[in-house]
Amino acid sequence: MNEPWIERWQEGRTGWHEPTGNGNLQAHWKWSGRRVLVPMCGKTVDLLWLEQQGNEVVGVELSEIAVLAFFEENGIEYESVDGSLPGYQAVGRQISLYCGDYFNFTDGPFDAHYDRGALIALQADLRPRYARHTSSLLTDDAAQLVITVEYDQAVCDGPPFSLVSEEVTGHWPRLQRHAVIDDTENAPPKFLEAGLEVIHEVVWIAS
Ligand SMILES: C[S@@+](CC[C@H](N)C(=O)[O-])C[C@H]1O[C@@H](n2cnc3c(N)ncnc32)[C@H](O)[C@@H]1O
Repeated sequence: MNEPWIERWQEGRTGWHEPTGNGNLQAHWKWSGRRVLVPMCGKTVDLLWLEQQGNEVVGVELSEIAVLAFFEENGIEYESVDGSLPGYQAVGRQISLYCGDYFNFTDGPFDAHYDRGALIALQADLRPRYARHTSSLLTDDAAQLVITVEYDQAVCDGPPFSLVSEEVTGHWPRLQRHAVIDDTENAPPKFLEAGLEVIHEVVWIAS
């Protein structure tokens, strides 16, 4: 279950990484002063953007290659911190990353949650467990921004997996469908090669 992700990082197969961050996060996130949980964060620069908005940011990532690359590529010093997983705290900053299996991370609570490429990266049978575990780390009124994708999964299989609305609101009933963006031009090459003609990114918000 975890090994394919470890191998992807070892082999540099990280096509999902967005060097300038996620446009939908930047367009739709509206909270500051929060403690933000970013599960399965990879080395996303969204962590920096969320910190710039005045939040404390905590990422959790399986691959140590990704965690170390985040600090190195952004020229950030870090020090070790204790936690339910090995932790890396950015010196003098409001960013920390924890390295290991997200399902073993228990250092809540958080009053905000950002999910891009986490829920939709997981096989269907794992998604309910992911959502329950995330909810266990969030306050009841936590802000959430969750990004999903929608496409014809009969043409091509994930990841990223296509999620119907009912599944998303089944996991987190407070989420509301906030924006739908044609993201076909950024679709993984395997989707376009398989003949997929359209893929939408959907932004879900709970506030
Ligand atoms: C599709 S990538 C998205 C990364 C990041 N959210 C982004 O937007 O760039 C999914 C990430 O989840 C990580 N991952 C997968 N399973 C995990 C687990 N059980 N615990 C922690 N991280 C996990 C992978 O290593 C990978 O970096």
